[in-house]
Amino acid sequence: MNRLDDIIEAAPRRVAAVRSLDELETVESELVGRHSELAELQRGIGKLAPEERPAMGKALQEARAALTAVLEDRRRQLERIGADALLADDRVDMTLEAYRLPAGSLHLIQQTIDEITDIFTALGYAVADGPEAELSAYNFDALNTPPTHPSRAESDTMYLEFGPHDSALMRTQTSPMQVRWMEDHTPPVHVIVPGKVYRSDTIDASHLPVFHQIEGLAVDTDITFSDLKGTLAHFAKEYFGPATTVRFRPHFFPFTEPSAELDVSCFNCDGGEPSCRVCKGVGWLEMLGCGMVDPNVLAHVGYDTDVVTGFAFGMGVERMAMVRHGINNIRHFIENDIRFLRQFT
Ligand code: DAH
Repeated sequence: MNRLDDIIEAAPRRVAAVRSLDELETVESELVGRHSELAELQRGIGKLAPEERPAMGKALQEARAALTAVLEDRRRQLERIGADALLADDRVDMTLEAYRLPAGSLHLIQQTIDEITDIFTALGYAVADGPEAELSAYNFDALNTPPTHPSRAESDTMYLEFGPHDSALMRTQTSPMQVRWMEDHTPPVHVIVPGKVYRSDTIDASHLPVFHQIEGLAVDTDITFSDLKGTLAHFAKEYFGPATTVRFRPHFFPFTEPSAELDVSCFNCDGGEPSCRVCKGVGWLEMLGCGMVDPNVLAHVGYDTDVVTGFAFGMGVERMAMVRHGINNIRHFIENDIRFLRQFT
């Protein structure tokens, strides 16, 4: 029994010295495993005198329980220490400054298209796009544009070498989508069409050979010029600010009758300040072309001109953005100068 007492007495210190779960396994097998002294003593019971056996058996069982308890305590300690160490390793230092990844942003032209599109979708307009390579039949003929109209001149329009002479071109306006949309839809029609247009223009402060327009078209029974005025007045207030007023000047477009140009009141000087850098003292800013859809255009797509009327408008996106943001040179839009672009993020 002496030997047993020694084992039990030595065990706690031995176990406390263990530093890892692996090491604990080794010590465990030394103390209570098959080749341990304890196991050997247990196997020796059979050789004892029968009357000694119960006492010895009981003592050995108690010793095994005591050793197992000591080992289990240490195992739990080691496991906790291990978990704590893992957590400490994984700790994220929230005070460290994160890397700042340079994020891009939408180009001002796209932002402008999005903003104007939102104003019209809020009124129930659909949004469409169409081909930039277009047929003269859509860009001009269906839009009531006579064969002699100056905009058809090869000096103004980029024609494509495709099909019969001058029958295909890069669209000079988004207006051909009026026709394509009406061919595919029956009234009531409310649609806007943002997109790129092309003209043989030399680049200067206010012209680019590729720029953007947004077309608008509304066709229904009983649409009048008042609807056109109300819609565009609403648009101007939404885009330029609630104090904006509009005026309509008579104009000519082949596909509208009557036609008008829309001016908005100068938001910078309240009208007529001679030194105003925005309107140069005029008090008004030319914004877009519009009018009542010419019955010839409606008839061309098979609409009944006794039943439906419509209005249309077309605006230059670059122009809208330039007026609103005080941009004095259209070239800024295509030069990709980060100092310009950053001002509109
Ligand atoms: N397409 C014309 C242009 O590029 C703008 C325009 C004027 C569009 C009157 C229209 C409109 O829809 O009704 O100059």
